[in-house]
Amino acid sequence: MDMYDIIRRKRDGHELTDDDIAVFINGCCDGSIPDYQISALLMAIWFRGMTEAETAALTLRMEHSGETVDLTDIDGLTVDKHSTGGVGDKTTLAVAPILAACGLKIPKMSGRGLGHTGGTIDKLESIPGFDTALGREKMISVVKETGLCVVGQSSRLVPADKKLYALRDVTATVDSMPLIASSIMSKKLAAGAKLIVLDVKYGSGAFLTGAEDAVSLASLMVRLGEAAGRRVSALITYMDEPLGRAVGNSLEVAEAVETLRGKGPEDFMELVIALSADALYIAGLGGRGECADMARCAIKDGTALRRLRAMVAAQGGDPAYIDDPGLFGKAEFTVEVPSPAEGYISEMDTAAIGRVSTALGAGRLTADEAVDHSAGIMIYKKKGAFVKVGETLAVLHTNRERAIAGAVRDYADAIAISQRPPEKAPLIYASVDSGGVIRA
Ligand code: URA
Repeated sequence: MDMYDIIRRKRDGHELTDDDIAVFINGCCDGSIPDYQISALLMAIWFRGMTEAETAALTLRMEHSGETVDLTDIDGLTVDKHSTGGVGDKTTLAVAPILAACGLKIPKMSGRGLGHTGGTIDKLESIPGFDTALGREKMISVVKETGLCVVGQSSRLVPADKKLYALRDVTATVDSMPLIASSIMSKKLAAGAKLIVLDVKYGSGAFLTGAEDAVSLASLMVRLGEAAGRRVSALITYMDEPLGRAVGNSLEVAEAVETLRGKGPEDFMELVIALSADALYIAGLGGRGECADMARCAIKDGTALRRLRAMVAAQGGDPAYIDDPGLFGKAEFTVEVPSPAEGYISEMDTAAIGRVSTALGAGRLTADEAVDHSAGIMIYKKKGAFVKVGETLAVLHTNRERAIAGAVRDYADAIAISQRPPEKAPLIYASVDSGGVIRA
């Protein structure tokens, strides 16, 4: 079967076989299929979709396109977590220590920020000395010692996704359910954990805007993971405002530490407890309510914070920054954004707020740019809050004096103020596991 035939059959609505998909993925990785043919098939998939059998075959072929991580040296239940990305999303920094405190093992590979979304690796690297480039042996020894370890994603994992994602990005084929699901799940399967918890976001700060689209994507990913022998659950969560108050690397680490001290923002705390409970539940440690109590208890008795501190020390970071986040270097400029009107905050354009944070230096537009760990935004008024003219909406932190005027204007433009309080949708819309969908 050659690539021309594979494209033609998909274009005409036929189901591809596992052999077709193997030809496609092998040819993507060894360079034998030109970009124009790969792109043509991606577009045919975008229009025709894929059956579940095709999507499963694509996921497994992608998973095995590079190295896979062998975690069998770790005793106990290994857990991985994935968020489809958002603004102010520092959940890994709180959920991983909670799960470790409850006896699970978290050998986690995370990414860097790109565009309007941040990345866990950049956040952790704001802690002086913290090393995110550990090899497998060292990662496993840190997990054995502390219960958790967070490292950067190895470039040897799922090379097919790198090739496909780069082409999807420039051919308007990112937003295809089978392509998104296979991209995310191939990486999770290759990373080796037995349990996988997913946070699938929808809303203005997410790449899916509709809640039911997010349910469909999550259900597909749960089925793909379960068919590959893993236990998977997903939460569908609303990202129509940044999560918590802090956006930006060291600001978010400080907020995660506050949360593990029991003093985090309400929305962030709710998500952290729900995701932790989900993982503990699929680990078989109790009913959902009991698991939520276990997660709360790990915060209350300080074990989760001690796990975070231990991981930071084991990865070369200075644990004094966990004991006292006030040690983090401050940006040279801190500038208030005043409210231009009186009323209720009715909308926050979350992606636009993420772009403001990037402009302040906290994020990057291209993969090789450096980030400024001290830059970002502290948000004082979130959706539903009543504000008076001139009251502080947020404080911008930056070392880029020339970015300030534009950032103040863009932040204010990202906020809508109305005379009536907005309806606020619940943070958690639904949860999905092998038993089906439960809508909140
Ligand atoms: N995240 C991924 O890793 N892949 C996608 O296709 C979309 C979001």
